Amino acid sequence: MSEEKTEPQKDQPFRFFDNREKYLLFVTTTSEKSVTAEKVGEELKFLTPNPPALRLFDAGVGNGAVFSRVLRDMHSRFPTVPFLVVGKEISMEDTRLWLETLADRFAEHPQTIVVMTNLYYAEAPWLEPKNPADREKLEWHDVALDGTTAHDFSQEIGKLGEKLNRGWQTRSSPITGNPLYVTPSVLVLYRRDQAFAMHDIIPRKGKFDANFDLIIAAQPYRSRTDAKFKVKKVLGPLSDSLSVNGRMIVVQSTGHDPGMEIIRKVWPTEEPFATPRHILINTLKESFVESGNKQYSIEGTGDDSALFTYHMHALPDEIGSNIGTSTLLAAWNAAVYVAQIDDERMNEVLQLGSYLDATRSVLQRHGGLWFQDESFVVVRRS
Ligand SMILES: C[S@@+](CC[C@H](N)C(=O)[O-])C[C@H]1O[C@@H](n2cnc3c(N)ncnc32)[C@H](O)[C@@H]1O
Repeated sequence: MSEEKTEPQKDQPFRFFDNREKYLLFVTTTSEKSVTAEKVGEELKFLTPNPPALRLFDAGVGNGAVFSRVLRDMHSRFPTVPFLVVGKEISMEDTRLWLETLADRFAEHPQTIVVMTNLYYAEAPWLEPKNPADREKLEWHDVALDGTTAHDFSQEIGKLGEKLNRGWQTRSSPITGNPLYVTPSVLVLYRRDQAFAMHDIIPRKGKFDANFDLIIAAQPYRSRTDAKFKVKKVLGPLSDSLSVNGRMIVVQSTGHDPGMEIIRKVWPTEEPFATPRHILINTLKESFVESGNKQYSIEGTGDDSALFTYHMHALPDEIGSNIGTSTLLAAWNAAVYVAQIDDERMNEVLQLGSYLDATRSVLQRHGGLWFQDESFVVVRRS
């Protein structure tokens, strides 16, 4: 997600990518991944896959937890439909974690093709860089996995380290400091014993139509970026890659939660969430009108279906008068991660120490910590 072409220029670079430990602590101490996957799962009942495959795109896979959960859900609903699933991820470490989630998916659902790419939003759904020089450089790896069991596939996937090391290098943008790909890369994985049956579905270099039945766009941009930018650089191109009747679920934070209370105790005027969904939806609709595109409708915008919460895991007796330091640190970490506070501002506060008091008082007041997200769905009509 953190890439020059999707981020406005700022004199103070901020990168999710830099905040690796924050991300890993956040995803292991909260229910964000499972709750997001459940929310995405609600869309599956609306899908009517067209032969030859059900096509999914994840616009920022991270550690692969949402991706693999959604694939499990898809298998239970469509056990015999071939899956063509594409994910975009620029972080090599996240791509490695994502790879580790895939072995049992190939075992349970043999007709699965997983495509991993580090391309930008406007490129990734089509598996092709826009710029001709980058197109020339595109590294395309076609990997047929040998074996029949999850263990076999895990062994096979374990051999891909070298391809990741080469293909997923990044460099810093001199303008924003954000990571950019050094080599545009695509890695196509499937079971060798299914290669004949899936011959016409396996993507080939330069020959791929997007046409996704479902797109997951969960927190795919910096929250402070303005709506026009988010629409032009992320949601617009992704909408273009939907099939007829395809659905894109967009998920973002609202800040209406105890997490934001912690933030405001430390930075009273902080406003991290610049584009509440109604602003984003209006901007997206305007862009559809401007481009003369009447095919899209937007669903699930009312509070009842849009709002949902996830929480920080804690034992029942953990949040009392005496909250352990590790719980406080996990809570603080989740709050600053969600509010996308940059490291420089964090460091000023860390030296003061009062951030732990602020966190403790919010946890005690609410008996725990939770965050509110909102979603909406873009549907492409015929
Ligand atoms: C920030 S990226 C993940 C890291 C990414 N691999 C990277 O290196 O840039 C998107 C993921 O962050 C998590 N996330 C949740 N709330 C977020 C928020 N408010 N801002 C940013 N990321 C959030 C979600 O798990 C989401 O899928």
